[in-house]
Amino acid sequence: MAHPTITYSGWGQAFFASYCTRCHSSTLTTSDDRNGATPHANWDDLPTIRSYTKEIDSFAAGGPNGINHIMPPSDPRPSDDERIMLGEFLACGAPD
Ligand code: HEC
Repeated sequence: MAHPTITYSGWGQAFFASYCTRCHSSTLTTSDDRNGATPHANWDDLPTIRSYTKEIDSFAAGGPNGINHIMPPSDPRPSDDERIMLGEFLACGAPD
């Protein structure tokens, strides 16, 4: 392997906490608190992340076909390098 697998506990959890869970969190229940983020699209929950792999990939991750910048809609935003790591994390099946 070229480099170690990017895991949820070792990388993903901190990534989503830094850039996503201020809107996409199971602790935020009203649309106001979530800034309008889709109900149940909670990125503090690994099984949910796995079930939204395609959507997260196309909204926020980088890969061979380019880098997606739709999410998050405001700062702080991840760097392109972090988006590429997100793409690898998702491509590996979002390992724990
Ligand atoms: C400031 C609030 C905010 C932050 C931070 C944010 N989002 Fe969102 N997200 C939204 C809103 C609002 C929507 C619904 C509107 C839309 O689809 O554009 C949404 C929708 C989505 C969807 C579509 C869900 C579906 O139903 O298909 C995905 C995937 C997503 N966000 C991923 C992310 C990821 C990954 C991050 C972090 C890198 C992130 N978002 C950070 C507000 C946010």
